[in-house]
Amino acid sequence: QELNMKLEMLEKGGFDHFMLKEIFEQPRSILDCMRGRIYPELGQVQLGGIKAFADKLKNIDRIIIVACGTSWHAGLVGEYLIEEYARIPVEVEYASEFRYRNPIITEKDVVIAISQSGETADTMAAIEMAKEKGATIFGICNVAGASIPRLTHAGVYTHAGPEIGVASTKAFTAQVTVLTLMAFYMAQQRGTISDVKMRELLTELETVPDKVQSALASNELVKYIAGEIKDASNCLFLGRGSGFPVALEGALKLKEISYIHAEGYPAAEMKHGPIALIDEQMPVVFIATNNSSYEKVISNIQEVKARKGIVIAIVTEGDKKVKNMVDYSIEIPDTDEAFLPLLATIPLQLLSYHIAVMRGCNVDQPRNLAKSVTVE
Ligand code: G6P
Repeated sequence: QELNMKLEMLEKGGFDHFMLKEIFEQPRSILDCMRGRIYPELGQVQLGGIKAFADKLKNIDRIIIVACGTSWHAGLVGEYLIEEYARIPVEVEYASEFRYRNPIITEKDVVIAISQSGETADTMAAIEMAKEKGATIFGICNVAGASIPRLTHAGVYTHAGPEIGVASTKAFTAQVTVLTLMAFYMAQQRGTISDVKMRELLTELETVPDKVQSALASNELVKYIAGEIKDASNCLFLGRGSGFPVALEGALKLKEISYIHAEGYPAAEMKHGPIALIDEQMPVVFIATNNSSYEKVISNIQEVKARKGIVIAIVTEGDKKVKNMVDYSIEIPDTDEAFLPLLATIPLQLLSYHIAVMRGCNVDQPRNLAKSVTVE
């Protein structure tokens, strides 16, 4: 018994749970994911896995991303990045919905399937259908040699290492990293980004693992905030632009492991529904970092404060404006807007982790959920 417990502690690297260990592994897993793939001095991204399709990428009309759960959220971040930098229209689909419609797919389409496990039944079925219709399929998977990488034409592994916690953390940030690299790679092939800009972006991307490390330093503060809101029965997560999928992922993490009902919304959509729920009991988490939507998010925060909601804001280091308006603020390092999801996600993972622990939940194996869902 004692030996088993010691073994388990060892496996968790001294952390209380796999989830926390995996959250803290992210500076490393993101670095592993970029290793050998980015060349900031040259302003180049190299992705050996999809290199054979470099020419095809020059002429495609659109990309369809299919995935489930957290991987679908990564897909939404991918949509922002690919459209912004490579200027290719992107659709992001739930694999389960995609396969049961009669979607319009042609040989000119590229389908990107994202899956941590590489075994999700719905994602596999979506791939098979798209393949039959002649599309080119790229995979973004974490488990080497799993079923999905074997079904696809090409792909890029996330290299995040084994993820044990059922709620996905480091696999998500690795997926986002790969999608960022893919967006830059496609931009490179299509000439939609200047060499100067590419060098600038890659130089900044190289600093992201260290910045993730700094974001993790908020752990104690986040734990304190978790203690303040742990008894809530509902929680809202709001963001704009690529902060929106981050909000969705923050909400998903909280509901998965703490069983608090949580919803992610685009901040501007709040007035079309969720605003009705806001009262003094309701925690509202905002992605309020200093980027293009900063001022707009500030007015959304004012709307929540006017209704006495409890506001927790993820802000950029040194921020004063938002800090003065909200109940709690958590700083993350400043970065290019392109990499914001990688940093803003960190405190949200920690928040759901601490709340779940405080509520006595089984963090690594939440009820009713499975690490990989191999049934339809
Ligand atoms: C399950 C897991 C989630 C995961 C989803 C998709 O629901 O609990 O964490 O995001 O499946 O899994 P995949 O392995 O395809 O990324």
